[in-house]
Amino acid sequence: MASNKMWYTVALGFLLPFSYAHTDFFTSIGHMTDLINTEKDLVISLKDYIKAEESKLEQIKKWAEKLDKLTDTATKDPEGFLGHPVNAFKLMKRLNTEWGELESLVLKDMSDGFISNMTIQRQFFPNDEDQTGAAKALLRLQDTYNLDTDTLSRGNLPGVKHKSFLTAEDCFELGKIAYTEADYYHTELWMEQALKQLDEGEVSSADKVYILDYLSYAVYQQGDLSKAMMLTKRLLELDPEHQRANGNMKYFEYIMAKEKEANKSSTDAEDQTEKETEFKKKDYLPERRKYEMLCRGEGLKMTPRRQKRLFCRYYDGNRNPRYILGPVKQEDEWDKPRIVRFLDIISDEEIETVKELAKPRLSRATVHDPETGKLTTAHYRVSKSAWLSGYESPVVSRINTRIQDLTGLDVSTAEELQVANYGVGGQYEPHFDFARKDEPDAFKELGTGNRIATWLFYMSDVSAGGATVFPEVGASVWPKKGTAVFWYNLFPSGEGDYSTRHAACPVLVGNKWVSNKWLHERGQEFRRPCTLSELE
Ligand code: OGA
Ligand code: FE2
Repeated sequence: MASNKMWYTVALGFLLPFSYAHTDFFTSIGHMTDLINTEKDLVISLKDYIKAEESKLEQIKKWAEKLDKLTDTATKDPEGFLGHPVNAFKLMKRLNTEWGELESLVLKDMSDGFISNMTIQRQFFPNDEDQTGAAKALLRLQDTYNLDTDTLSRGNLPGVKHKSFLTAEDCFELGKIAYTEADYYHTELWMEQALKQLDEGEVSSADKVYILDYLSYAVYQQGDLSKAMMLTKRLLELDPEHQRANGNMKYFEYIMAKEKEANKSSTDAEDQTEKETEFKKKDYLPERRKYEMLCRGEGLKMTPRRQKRLFCRYYDGNRNPRYILGPVKQEDEWDKPRIVRFLDIISDEEIETVKELAKPRLSRATVHDPETGKLTTAHYRVSKSAWLSGYESPVVSRINTRIQDLTGLDVSTAEELQVANYGVGGQYEPHFDFARKDEPDAFKELGTGNRIATWLFYMSDVSAGGATVFPEVGASVWPKKGTAVFWYNLFPSGEGDYSTRHAACPVLVGNKWVSNKWLHERGQEFRRPCTLSELE
């Protein structure tokens, strides 16, 4: 392996600004549609500007042509020309006033309307942080959904309606963003893609020398010295005087020689431990990997035997008068923890109303900081959300009643209806909905106890991605518009059920709307009596 010294070298120094972007725009499609309209508006005023500029140029051209003819005649026989008194007068007039007018016309600024529109709209433009955020979302999607760089760059995603390509310059940009995050793995992928597109003849302002500079550094940082050398050689063919590349080349050669020396004296025992750690790496699946696999629809842990015990049925809310005549469709999604799905449980009209009520209030979703118990934004929860009260709309109130009727749980102690919108890349990494014992009591102020259960409406289909997954048990639940899922977070004893740990996978294509109701312990004493056992 390459020596540790590699990490200390300044020979290949770029600056590494580590910044934490507070990205907001791309987290929700709701707000990005406004940007599309802004852009449309700007295009219209840009076209108006072009028209004005063209008509100005047309006027100037006509003047030039007229004068061209006139001066032609005049210069051929100046005396004869000026012998005509009208010509003499017109020459005076032209030079005294008309050329002045033309000058004013040439100087006239036609861009007023466009520029002032631009100035106003620019206040609402996304900033550098938004751009970085959107780029990082793209890199996250690439990992979660195992997309190769070429597929992503050529826009070959499943379920897309509007195909979109990345230019070599876009790829370079993504590589640079990965680079500033010290993410050399993605830097390499994207710089290589940029280079590939240029090699294939794409016309671009992206510069191979720059790309190779980043690429060789990223490759070197990941320990592939000979590839880094090869890339540096390529750079030097294009720009033999490149200072840093020349310096790096010498440095690489030095390291290479030292490694050869060290390799000669390495023993078999070392090889053995290296193999062992590699084995361990493969065998151990951290939660992140499980989560990403489930998001891709891999790694589901359901046996055919257990599957046979999952049913669907008509459910009347335990003989609830409102549902006896019209029971609802209910499906078992999972056995342990038990997750059920209700079908056709919220209508398209209700969904529209809920979305419209939420839209103006959508803001970056927050989480409870486990240390302080306070609400903050977090990179692991990327979506926008809003809370709706039953008092503000009969639709919300009706929905709350429906949840109460079908779960048998009192909704008067529940939190308000939360509406969430995830844009492309939007996600909520694995978490529990209930508060753990070791946390400062996040729900103390509410006085309603812990979150006993979760009801989650899917208010849209998602073209690709966006599943709700349970990495502890290997379950994925796919969004389907008009359905809702329900599960208990707590055992009847009040203990938290750790198998309910779950996540919202990043949206790959499209956008995802959900709304959820967190039901609390208080009020359920007779509806779901507590027991001492966890096993009920
Ligand atoms: C939540 C949650 C899952 C999803 O908001 O707590 O887990 O699929 N949402 O949106
Ligand atoms: Fe959740």
